[in-house]
Amino acid sequence: MQTVLGIESSCDETGVALVRFGNQGVPELLAHALYSQIEMHQAYGGVVPELASRDHIRRVLPLTEQVLAESSRDLADVDVVAFTRGPGLAGALLVGAGVACALGAALGKPVLGVHHLEGHLLSPFLSADPPQFPFVALLVSGGHTQLMRVDGVGRYQILGESIDDAAGEAFDKSAKMLGLPYPGGAALGQLAQSGDPAAYKLPRPLLHSGDLDFSFAGLKTAVLVQSKKCAAAQGCAVHDLPQATLADLAASTQTAIVEVLVKKSLAALKLTGLNRLVVAGGVGANRELRRQLNDACASLGVRVHYPELHLCTDNGAMIAMAAAMRLQAGIQSASADYSFEVKPRWPLDAICASGTMLNPG
Ligand code: KG4
Ligand code: ZN
Repeated sequence: MQTVLGIESSCDETGVALVRFGNQGVPELLAHALYSQIEMHQAYGGVVPELASRDHIRRVLPLTEQVLAESSRDLADVDVVAFTRGPGLAGALLVGAGVACALGAALGKPVLGVHHLEGHLLSPFLSADPPQFPFVALLVSGGHTQLMRVDGVGRYQILGESIDDAAGEAFDKSAKMLGLPYPGGAALGQLAQSGDPAAYKLPRPLLHSGDLDFSFAGLKTAVLVQSKKCAAAQGCAVHDLPQATLADLAASTQTAIVEVLVKKSLAALKLTGLNRLVVAGGVGANRELRRQLNDACASLGVRVHYPELHLCTDNGAMIAMAAAMRLQAGIQSASADYSFEVKPRWPLDAICASGTMLNPG
């Protein structure tokens, strides 16, 4: 039985959580607390790293106290302190790492640095309907779009990934063009609900490339060109287009991104012969993506697993969970060396247990 405190501070959300791993290996989320800095960064249209770091400093201890109070635990109950070691913003990561290592040293408890993407990847194991290995994973966050074969904890094989913008970035940049506030992905999804997805013909990049790679940079440019065309036709700025036109643009953009994600996921399932799909990362909260994946997978007899909706975007629970699963799988031990370092750039293959992460393409 092990209780792990998880601290996430890689970008613009401070997350703290307490996860208990029972003897049967069943995880229990005792409590989690999150503070989103989105409102603070909105004025600048994107994340300001220095402001992000300073805000993490303000939030991390009150959130830790909140999680302990909500779970009726105190620091003495914590067995391991886990933190996001990377990838992410260097200053922001240093806050979580510094606090985690200071807590560990003060309590005499070991610490463990977690890969942020592994946190996302393993977050569905906290859901009521956890997946079983092996599975295909579609990891769609703000900075990454990857299809992987996952055979166990730390056993990840990249099947394909974005060669330029991530899917979340395509959502965010398109949203910004349409006048929606940062980060925009969820707002674009919301706006798209009242629009016609067939209103504008936008490219489906690399759909027929024959591999499992993605590219969303060209789509973003196509959205810009199409919205400028609409604005010119109506004699106004893009932001001042009628709501119905903006909704049509949003729906057309969303459907282009979703179609590529769904078709490539199905191709990955076919390639691997697996019949389980796990979707993780912020874009995994998108309703249209979920609807289309559920429909397509139901007709193929494929089970789809998602994290709980509130655990799709960044949070401390996924960090505690990934640490607990790595410890349980015996592929990493927590350390009493508190001289931490962070890894703003950190490829996922660096943490693979087998060291055999291959790209078959
Ligand atoms: O995984 P995440 O929280 O952070 C990173 O590790 O990057 O993902 C954030 C991304 C942002 O691009 C955000 O716009 C997008 O996920 N996102 C969505 C939705 N909710 C969050 N994109 C589309 N539809 C949503 N409902
Ligand atoms: Zn993330």
